[in-house]
Amino acid sequence: MNAASSIAQYIQEQSVRVERELETSIPSTWSVPVALRESMMYSLMAGGKRLRPILVLAAAEAVGGREDAAMPVALAIEMIHTYSLIHDDLPAMDNDDLRRGKPTNHKVYGEAMAILAGDALLTHAFFMIVQAARSCGVSGDTVADIVEELSVLAGAPGMVGGQAADMLGEQGVTKLEELEYIHLHKTSDLIVFSLKAGGRIGGASASQLAALEKFGTCLGLAFQIQDDILDLVGEEQKLGKPVQSDVKQQKVTYPFFIGMEASLAKVEQLTQEARSALLAADIPQPERLLALADFLMKRDH
Ligand code: IPE
Ligand code: IPE
Ligand code: MG
Ligand code: MG
Ligand code: MG
Repeated sequence: MNAASSIAQYIQEQSVRVERELETSIPSTWSVPVALRESMMYSLMAGGKRLRPILVLAAAEAVGGREDAAMPVALAIEMIHTYSLIHDDLPAMDNDDLRRGKPTNHKVYGEAMAILAGDALLTHAFFMIVQAARSCGVSGDTVADIVEELSVLAGAPGMVGGQAADMLGEQGVTKLEELEYIHLHKTSDLIVFSLKAGGRIGGASASQLAALEKFGTCLGLAFQIQDDILDLVGEEQKLGKPVQSDVKQQKVTYPFFIGMEASLAKVEQLTQEARSALLAADIPQPERLLALADFLMKRDH
């Protein structure tokens, strides 16, 4: 089996595991309005690459830790990511009507329920992280570190800040550093969180965490530039979301700013930088993370 097909198989197997766990992640005994529960599950189970949870699991493995102990945090980051997509698609934001191959949440459940489903998924993520201590033997201190980091990287100085800058910046971005700020926060931060949280659960040292952070920062930036490229040259069928959405919203993106050729080269350069950061650190099993980085550079969805 060559490297590309074995990483594709790994992604497939891990996403099946993650989806099986997501299915039962909101306790059935909880009294929740039917429309809210349905709206949350609709987006959570709509598919998607499950990249962030897979990075949590792969990072735990890379530093020699137990993958099953990392599962609650893997589910948590997918909840945060899914909430960010539900809100990103709202008419007040990117105003898109297709996501993960299905009508967007607000198209099915209405804007109020879509906003609330996002709020509830965000809140439930923190419940999930606590379960890592309750049922998987992760220490209370590690859980506290993870909760603190998630509050920063998913919050105002993190993903939400990046999304705010993205909204404020429409048409007005005139410097590459401004665009980089948006991408680093709206996208890299959740990827960095995933890698470091997996690393923390696996017992990573400070220098291993620093390497995972650098790897995630570069990988996240490459991932968002590739997302911007695919908005222009991808296929709606494969992406499961509309193409030309950035054009419609007049977003300033990497291809808009530096052109398609330079954007493709930047994705490659950042992937190399990510690889080097990981290889320079003392990480016992970096192979899976390296293969994921290569796989993402060539993705078409
Ligand atoms: C889309 O993320 C939003 C970005 C940060 C670019 P993904 O491309 O990971 O979306 P799913 O989870 O596969 O649907
Ligand atoms: C969204 O970026 C990033 C977050 C949801 C945090 P985009 O707006 O480019 O994502 P897509 O293209 O709609 O998936
Ligand atoms: Mg957006
Ligand atoms: Mg969008
Ligand atoms: Mg996009």
